[in-house]
Amino acid sequence: DPADKPADKPAVKALPDAQTVTAVEHWTDQLFSFRVTRPQSLRFRSGEFVMIGLMGDPDPKTGKQKPLLRAYSIASPAWDEELEFYSIKVQDGPLTSRLQHIKPGDQIILRPKPVGTLVHDALLPGKRLWFFATGTGFAPFASLLREPETFEKYDEIVITHTCRDVAELEYGHRLIEALKEDELLNEVIGEGFWKKIRYYPTTTREESPKMGRITDLLTNGTVFSDLGIPAITPDTDRAMVCGSLGFNTDMKDVLEGFGLREGANSDPAEYVVEKAFVG
Ligand code: A2P
Repeated sequence: DPADKPADKPAVKALPDAQTVTAVEHWTDQLFSFRVTRPQSLRFRSGEFVMIGLMGDPDPKTGKQKPLLRAYSIASPAWDEELEFYSIKVQDGPLTSRLQHIKPGDQIILRPKPVGTLVHDALLPGKRLWFFATGTGFAPFASLLREPETFEKYDEIVITHTCRDVAELEYGHRLIEALKEDELLNEVIGEGFWKKIRYYPTTTREESPKMGRITDLLTNGTVFSDLGIPAITPDTDRAMVCGSLGFNTDMKDVLEGFGLREGANSDPAEYVVEKAFVG
């Protein structure tokens, strides 16, 4: 067990499940994304999460180091040869205070055991798929938006992202813009697949073209009139939710109010929910 090695040994080489950082992008002083090599044996479904992290500081008494791991949604699609993650930076956060300083060539720990409920298998067939995200809850949708199955299964994808400030929307906005030029999706799904996407970003603190919590904008019907579509109904609409605990709870109420039922891998239904983990 590498955790038993003395602290003065080069721990990084002995890391179990080590992967190498290939790219890092800082979006704001509180948000960054990074890419790492993908273990050859890792198979996952777009939308799932894995445990990733770094080796913790040596115990002052014993010198032993333990891995410091957190759940992170994989933001890249299942077909990608690398893995992408989207993270907040918490200045006093045990993991992200250090993780935010990673550079290409550094190693992180990645446990190759993907799990999660934000997967196509957990939803019954439908016509319109909604992605509801706050903050870094966008990550699993960054994966699903680059997944051909998403566009094969639905006529329309509505992606809502609510953040406090405009700058926090940039990662998602850029990703959606880049879909137009995505060669694989254009080839596999056919050119113009991205026209199925309706993007509905909102901010709650900083001034922007559309302000307010998505929960309120759904309840008072603003979203539907803005997009020119009928209100959510279990006949046609499916939803995936990823955000803070409070957001998830409120969104469940909103969706149940429209008559949708919560699904799971073993029992698909009309919506699924997952907590945005770090933060
Ligand atoms: P608000 O600014 O009104 O709290 P946070 O950074 O706290 O995780 O929040 C991210 C975004 O999600 C913010 O825009 C926040 O709005 C919004 N939000 C937080 N909790 C809820 C909730 N229960 N329902 C809807 N939106 C929420």
